[in-house]
Amino acid sequence: MAGKYSKQANIEVKVDSLMQLMTIEEKIGQMNQYNGFWDVTGPAPKSGDASKKYEHLKKGYVGSMLNVTGAEEVKAVQKIAVEETRLGIPLIIGFDVIHGYKTISPIPLAEAASWDLEAIKTSAQVAAKEAAAAGINWTFAPMVDISRDARWGRVMEGAGEDPYLGSKIATARVNGFQGDNLNSKQTIAACAKHWAGYGFAEAGKEYNTVDISASTLNNIVFPPFKAANDAGVKTFMNSFNQLNGVPATGNTFLQREILKEKWGFTGFVVSDWASIIEMTTHGYAKNKKHAAELAIKAGSDMDMESYAYVDELANLVKDGIVDEALIDDAVKRILTVKFELGLFDNPYKYCNKQNEKQVTGSKEIQDAVLDMAIKSIVLLKNENNILPLKKEGQKIALIGALASDKTSPLGNWRLAAEDNTAVSVLEGMQTYTRNTLNYAKGADVNTGESVFTIELAINTKDKSEFPQAIKTAKGADVVVMVLGEHGFQSGEGRSRTNLGLPGVQQELLEAVFKVNKNIVLVLNNGRPLAIPWAEKHIPGIVEAWQLGTQSGNAVAQVLYGDYNPSGKLPMTFPRSVGQIPIYYNYKSTGRPNNSGLVFWSHYTDESNKPLYPFGHGLSYTTFSYNNFSVNKVTKDSFKASVVVKNTGNVTGKEVVQLYIRDLVGSITRPVKELKGFELVSLEPNQEVTVSFNLTKDELGFFNNKGDFIVESGDFKAFVGGSSETILEADFKI
Ligand code: BGC
Repeated sequence: MAGKYSKQANIEVKVDSLMQLMTIEEKIGQMNQYNGFWDVTGPAPKSGDASKKYEHLKKGYVGSMLNVTGAEEVKAVQKIAVEETRLGIPLIIGFDVIHGYKTISPIPLAEAASWDLEAIKTSAQVAAKEAAAAGINWTFAPMVDISRDARWGRVMEGAGEDPYLGSKIATARVNGFQGDNLNSKQTIAACAKHWAGYGFAEAGKEYNTVDISASTLNNIVFPPFKAANDAGVKTFMNSFNQLNGVPATGNTFLQREILKEKWGFTGFVVSDWASIIEMTTHGYAKNKKHAAELAIKAGSDMDMESYAYVDELANLVKDGIVDEALIDDAVKRILTVKFELGLFDNPYKYCNKQNEKQVTGSKEIQDAVLDMAIKSIVLLKNENNILPLKKEGQKIALIGALASDKTSPLGNWRLAAEDNTAVSVLEGMQTYTRNTLNYAKGADVNTGESVFTIELAINTKDKSEFPQAIKTAKGADVVVMVLGEHGFQSGEGRSRTNLGLPGVQQELLEAVFKVNKNIVLVLNNGRPLAIPWAEKHIPGIVEAWQLGTQSGNAVAQVLYGDYNPSGKLPMTFPRSVGQIPIYYNYKSTGRPNNSGLVFWSHYTDESNKPLYPFGHGLSYTTFSYNNFSVNKVTKDSFKASVVVKNTGNVTGKEVVQLYIRDLVGSITRPVKELKGFELVSLEPNQEVTVSFNLTKDELGFFNNKGDFIVESGDFKAFVGGSSETILEADFKI
């Protein structure tokens, strides 16, 4: 039946004519999203929740499903929707394709560390291709929440702390997932989430209250969402948190005023998982019916797993509490995306088992995730050039449970990837055969199972394998220690108050250090860690995050210098948890400088400085910066330029970063704001002039009414290879 809607002229007409045929229940059904419920290729469920969902599906009261994957499985549910319901409207099939589907890319925070927008786009593109081949046509990504709090577990899923970098990455990811043509079998609809403010959960505690100023909202939180909208993202997801007293799901200001009216967003908003019903526990809605009313009025178009719309909306309309026009608007938005995906022309277009087999884990995808992984690594410290490792004649000790782990490097949010499918660091290093490699675990990171839904138990006691590790380290030329967080220590529901090396790993590091100081510490983590002892004592520190399927190959290539590291931190690393929130684009206090008395803005027991600043990352070569200037081009545009030279012995890449400071503002401006960056590759002695254009977009800011303004006055520009910049210049608007 579905085919008949496709013959007409354009999508708007098709949607309108389909909607003429729909009952109110069928319309509300389109706004209902269910989690995958029973073995869809098996017999129909006879009782309980699954059977209720199944009955709804057969009646056409389900518009979307999530967590049904695989060409055959998706085909089975799609078949019910298309062949057994009255109107045969196909389902949109959603899934969290966050950093890959089965073949896993680095966690998004790691990808952001590449500052390589092309690689990030390609990573999303191949993820879309692999997911689409498994029947999925909609990903709940990218997460574009800015966060300044490393305690929050979901920083692993975003692009870090900066709205400018975050906006560029949001655009790259949306373009990667959606491509130029949503109708293609290789692209899927994207979803900018979580709208909005989720990354500012108080104290970094998951789902916590968010209370932030209009200025922070407009200038820090909103920009990446705006960028995603400008890139044509098809959907938004609202968020679990309340924002300044109103849950995001019931927030009219966010969903209607800003998103749909001011920004003209034409796609649809899906709630987060049960976030509609959770408005009752927030103390905002009286009951499910009230929650449904508040959510639809505020602009939430689709209900993920609350049963609030499917159970309550029809009555709310009948009782005259909810205007049917609101339902029509939501349904129109949802159907439009389905038409754009081409689902009405061919509902089974994503369901080809043969193609799924060919595409899953293909060489093209493996190559892309390896490329992304090596580019995501950040060299944090390299004293006396302990790195790169020599390729022959070396006795290398490799220590740490994470070094041989083939699951943890997949990180969190990799629901379709199987355990034990990542290349471990041990395997990656074994391919360099002209050295002697001895491995010792030292200590487990966790005890018990590691799964998505359950708290990870950390090994805080068992040190029985320390002696073996110490013995292995003793005679080695270099000790490589892979330490840090397990992949399931960050992600949703994984806030931490302690950001050191988990469990007994700090003790292991210090014990090994006692017998061999020549240590390269390879960090695995889904968030910034506070590791001041390591920074002080360990000569080589490599930030290797959770790098996905090709993890070990990427780490080995960087350790051995086959790839010269080029990543830069997208988030500040604190020295201590007490400094959080710590971020480079802070505002100046009235007393920023040490006057000799205690009355200045500081801690009595810790420095104000971070452990590693935003934008930091070393290379096996060095770069010089010279001749920085800012010149007026037109009335309100400037060109900044700088000469960057490779002053070392090997070819390397540098992320040249441009920051500005608006010295006086009607709303105070940050001490530095990133406003441009360029990734350049230079051979030894090669130099290049890097230019940046500063236009209104870079020079202005949002006032508290949400208007973008540019104020005349004095500015400074800064340039360098990190937010602790090297050169500065003054200019005036
Ligand atoms: C998360 C979302 C995710 C959804 C569906 C929620 O718990 O907050 O980001 O897309 O589940 O899996």
